[in-house]
Amino acid sequence: MTPIPGPNAQRIVAQDTQLMMTSTKSAPIAAASGQGVWITDVDGNRLLDFASGVGVLAVGHCHPEVVRAVQEQAGKLSHFAGTDYYYDIQNRLAQKLTEITPGSHAKKVFFVNSGAESVEAALKLARWNRRRPITIGLLGAFHGRTMGALTMTSSKPNQRGRFEPFTGGGHHIPPPYCFRCPYKLTYPSCDLYCAKILKELYFETAIPPDDVAAFIAEPLMGEGGYVVPPPGWHRAIKSICDEHGILFISDEVQAGMGRTGKWFAIEHHGVVPDILTTAKALGGGLPMGAIVFRKELDYTVPGAHSNTFGGNLVAGAASLATIGILERDHVIENARKQGEHLMARLRELQQKYPAIGDVRGLGLMVAAEFVAPGRDHPPDVKLRDRVMDESWHRGLILLPCGKSALRFIPPLIVQTDEVDEAIEILDAAIGAALGSG
Ligand SMILES: Cc1ncc(COP(=O)(O)O)c(C=O)c1O
Repeated sequence: MTPIPGPNAQRIVAQDTQLMMTSTKSAPIAAASGQGVWITDVDGNRLLDFASGVGVLAVGHCHPEVVRAVQEQAGKLSHFAGTDYYYDIQNRLAQKLTEITPGSHAKKVFFVNSGAESVEAALKLARWNRRRPITIGLLGAFHGRTMGALTMTSSKPNQRGRFEPFTGGGHHIPPPYCFRCPYKLTYPSCDLYCAKILKELYFETAIPPDDVAAFIAEPLMGEGGYVVPPPGWHRAIKSICDEHGILFISDEVQAGMGRTGKWFAIEHHGVVPDILTTAKALGGGLPMGAIVFRKELDYTVPGAHSNTFGGNLVAGAASLATIGILERDHVIENARKQGEHLMARLRELQQKYPAIGDVRGLGLMVAAEFVAPGRDHPPDVKLRDRVMDESWHRGLILLPCGKSALRFIPPLIVQTDEVDEAIEILDAAIGAALGSG
């Protein structure tokens, strides 16, 4: 054990700083191996991973069945281009996805390699079908950083700065963020003004609804702060979309694959999307993504959309193994149960530390928002950052989200004693951060 980062990690961090493009580093942690909810770094330190590789490792690090599936497939055939030829693995995975995604309608699937790529595929499919130029999304949403996805991403100015013009046709409306309601209203007396405004103001002024191909939203805003919309918001938006023939895209890249205690988080809202995007946890640690959509939306022209690596065989084997484990071991039920425990423990900490202004989430997609004293609970970004640093110094890996929140997204196989251990470390980290502030 060494202080984190130890000498080996420090060397790797220094080299990385020389060689690698600036991206989104959160902490100087260099992992060497992983098992379940635990990471061992290059200096032999063990850390509790409550970031899951940014929401990827649903069944934990190096689950033996996923490892075996990958090894076996890599030894048989890794790539043959599933878009140009035929893969049984893709068919099996597509079949499974049509079964576990919401809605009993006929569906089709297209495989990609990342979340952003799934959003690109969804936006293109919507535009091609509707022949309309506009897509509407939410201020604060995150959909990826490629140009089409970035058109709809608006969670932080640094993501968009210097990149205009985007692909065009992207509009945003204020988010259903009750803790910081953009209209200073309160649910339920607000009568879901944040949904109605789409029809009553935007469609009456800036956005002609007949020009809108799609509305895209995360079932709960991830990168934007784990913002859970109030009950009825999704249904209200979907019904406005249906009135105008607008396709509804649920971006489940972060929230899907069991993370919130249901296969897909949109199920909490009782809405069936026309197009669903998924990635991250789908690949069990390998790059894999997909869109699942109403069969009648399929392209009638070959080549309108395709790719080379989408649904790669090795990643497909990892996906099938991951889904098999999620089903057989009741992992999604565990996510629900451990999520409740985690939220309850975080609420205990909230009693102790008024700097935790809000605890929110669904299943194991949970965040705590740090606030300064004062009217309208101003976000305390510096405190959040200090708590995150004090946490990893003590062996707990966390990621930020929103302006001043920390997210808690352990692998879905996490156990109660591991949640309790994380809370203990967090408690000490908050104490230290407040002391050093
Ligand atoms: C909701 C959502 N959509 C899309 C993306 C982009 O995914 P990727 O980083 O795999 O491109 C993310 C990534 O965090 C996400 O959370």
